[in-house]
Amino acid sequence: MEINKNVEDDGVIFMSIKEGKNSEIAAAEDGDVTILAIESSCDETAAAVVRNGREVLSNIISSQIALHTIYGGVVPEIASRKHVEKMNGCIRAALSEANLTLEDIDAIAVTYGPGLVGALLVGVSEAKAISFATGKPLIGVHHIEGHISANFIENKDLEPPFVCLVVSGGHSHLVVVKDYGEYEIIGQTRDDAAGEAFDKVARAIGLGYPGGPKIDKAAKEGNPDAFTFPQAQIPDAEYDFSFSGLKSSVLNYINQAKMQGQELDQADVAASFQKAVVEVLVSHAIKACKEYGYDKLAIAGGVASNSGLRELMEKECARENIKFYRPSPVLCTDNAAMIGAAAYYEYKKGVRFGLDMNAVPNLPLGDRERRFHGRQ
Ligand code: KG4
Ligand code: ZN
Repeated sequence: MEINKNVEDDGVIFMSIKEGKNSEIAAAEDGDVTILAIESSCDETAAAVVRNGREVLSNIISSQIALHTIYGGVVPEIASRKHVEKMNGCIRAALSEANLTLEDIDAIAVTYGPGLVGALLVGVSEAKAISFATGKPLIGVHHIEGHISANFIENKDLEPPFVCLVVSGGHSHLVVVKDYGEYEIIGQTRDDAAGEAFDKVARAIGLGYPGGPKIDKAAKEGNPDAFTFPQAQIPDAEYDFSFSGLKSSVLNYINQAKMQGQELDQADVAASFQKAVVEVLVSHAIKACKEYGYDKLAIAGGVASNSGLRELMEKECARENIKFYRPSPVLCTDNAAMIGAAAYYEYKKGVRFGLDMNAVPNLPLGDRERRFHGRQ
């Protein structure tokens, strides 16, 4: 995976991610489905061209993280404005890197939920405008279904059914992927999402935003056994998660240390906190595979790029003879290639959205109801 980065004048980072060289892109064959995908649900403006759900011809991400860092978190209004400014450039770059024009595209896909409403609306409006202007079909994609589908890009052999642990800034779900686009949620968080807990604890120990990657880095220097933080088990819901008790316990420790004038060892707290989160995630996911009888386990979402999670999951999967799948870190966090991967399987099923498509900030996973509005 080759990543070319360029910091623009306004601090936004423009990235072009390539699996192979452009010259290696084979010519399209009859029956190939080429999708232009758009993602703008949070603070990344992204566009990608994906062929047949698994071959990424281009993958452009314009990341606003540096802009939001000043405020300690994502400011929705700034995110929407930057999406408006960057969207056309990302799409142009995605088409140009794939050596294609809009004429070569079979469908336009876009994340329509869940996410920040103002941010989602930029991508949805753009996709609808392109669909209207070109007459090409429009496909709305659930952001989390996109994260799950990121696994199809580099793991050409992966096919459902399998278990997927989805851990992002807004979601912590344990899902059985029964078929393409068919999901059974077997566990979810009762309170904070895993990524949210990483972000809040990072802020509390002074590492700042974005918390996940900073804790991941600090944890490498720390002792994971320095503190024993609680790992919640929910009675009668063995696959559900709860991270608020763990977060409170870390915050209590920090307050006590401050009151007693002790110096806080950021790395030790980060490593012990990360260990507590990761052990719960791994043990639930492995238990689900064994009890539901699946021998394939995938991970998805921003937290899936965590090195501690990847390491422990790999070790436990090897021990239990479960095949472990994970996207490269840059495909775990928000991108449009994963949206193009998910959209392909919807396209094959005949799913088409009308121009009445709207952004749905709290769209539930596996929701089918809104999909057949308008133009088919
Ligand atoms: O999937 P994502 O990019 O956006 C959402 O859909 O939410 O996930 C963002 C979340 C943030 O909470 C971020 O702190 C977390 O993923 N994250 C990580 C790491 N990289 C990103 N958490 C732990 N370790 C990481 N290396
Ligand atoms: Zn995401």
